[in-house]
Amino acid sequence: MHLPMHLSVPTLLFLSSASASAIPSTLTKPSRPLPLIIWHGLGDNYAADGLVSVGELANETNPGTYVYNIRLDEDPGSDRTATFFGNLTEQLAQVCDTLAVHPVLSLAPAVNALGFSQGGQFLRGYVERCNNPPVRNLVTFGSQHNGIAEFQACAPTDWLCKGAMALLRVNTWSNYVQSRLVPAQYYRSCNTSTGEPTPEYLENSNFLADINNERVLKNTKYAANIASLNKFVMYLFKDDTTVIPKESGWFAQVTNLTSGIVTPLRNRAIYKEDWLGLKKLDEKGGLVFRETKGGHMQLSDELLVKVFKDFFSPVGGKGKEAEEIVMQDSDSSGEL
Ligand SMILES: *[C@@H]1O[C@H](CO)[C@@H](O)[C@H](O)[C@H]1NC(C)=O
Ligand SMILES: *[C@@H]1O[C@H](CO)[C@@H](O)[C@H](O)[C@H]1NC(C)=O
Ligand SMILES: *[C@@H]1O[C@H](CO)[C@@H](O)[C@H](O)[C@H]1NC(C)=O
Ligand SMILES: *[C@@H]1O[C@H](CO)[C@@H](O)[C@H](O)[C@H]1NC(C)=O
Repeated sequence: MHLPMHLSVPTLLFLSSASASAIPSTLTKPSRPLPLIIWHGLGDNYAADGLVSVGELANETNPGTYVYNIRLDEDPGSDRTATFFGNLTEQLAQVCDTLAVHPVLSLAPAVNALGFSQGGQFLRGYVERCNNPPVRNLVTFGSQHNGIAEFQACAPTDWLCKGAMALLRVNTWSNYVQSRLVPAQYYRSCNTSTGEPTPEYLENSNFLADINNERVLKNTKYAANIASLNKFVMYLFKDDTTVIPKESGWFAQVTNLTSGIVTPLRNRAIYKEDWLGLKKLDEKGGLVFRETKGGHMQLSDELLVKVFKDFFSPVGGKGKEAEEIVMQDSDSSGEL
């Protein structure tokens, strides 16, 4: 992703709600874009060129967008390691703590969020568990919302990945693996004739079974927080062969990989009984399913620009959301 930099665009710093008491947003004066938080995928790191380019493109598309790439460590190598190894409960808590005191983000009335692959379900976890600062629009690309049925293959020389996957030999459902191997925490085993989760998964999944509210005891805060989103946009890659099954990107359930029987989200109990607030969100027009051509994470600048215009443009600006202006009296920080 090589993007031209238009250095003539004026710098528009996102100002804090210190000025919140000043001028309320008006229909005639669009607010500046909300900050954007981006959570990268497995094997990537927050400082990678491709990710930095995405942030630059966001700022070019909606000038003045403050972009923060989520990281578990300031050292890019360690941040990459954390995409394979770690306890997701602890990783997410760390991200929540960091964002809650971040000098810019913590003062923003809300943020937009962009999740790539596993970063998508982690950002959804952020919304459910913390949401401080609150997310307005969440967009995920090729994420594993309904988990994975198979672990992805590692590149031949990716020793970190291979080391991680070697851990699986221990036993996916052991505490040892569930507290250490990141993809194991969104692995979902199911009964291959019903597609319903296995008891082992429900009992031992350290992350997914919890954030998907699949256990008997439901966390009502999770549902309330998802329903509080303005938009939750799920992109599926049409030819995704990395995520198995790819329909996880739309939160669908696949009964088994041989039958290929897919139960769309809207036909599932998770939706119908609204364990996660997805139905409530859908009823206000906030649940968006989109498909794009290509394999896993094959993103064009053109597609990203479209997404940034549709979902991350300033509230009350010229983007699609201009149609549904939301008054935000804390998002008025002076000159634009
Ligand atoms: C956005 O882009 C402008 C112009 O290139 C640059 O001056 C500014 O620092 C960027 N803002 C952020 C928050 O990255
Ligand atoms: C992951 O960390 C949380 C918080 O420290 C802890 O409660 C949980 O038991 C850990 N998970 C596993 C599988 O050890
Ligand atoms: C799968 O579900 C069916 C129907 O509920 C049940 O009869 C069967 O025993 C289950 N299989 C396993 C392996 O649990
Ligand atoms: C896959 O699902 C179909 C339809 O429910 C079922 O007939 C078939 O036995 C399943 N295959 C396996 C391997 O369980």
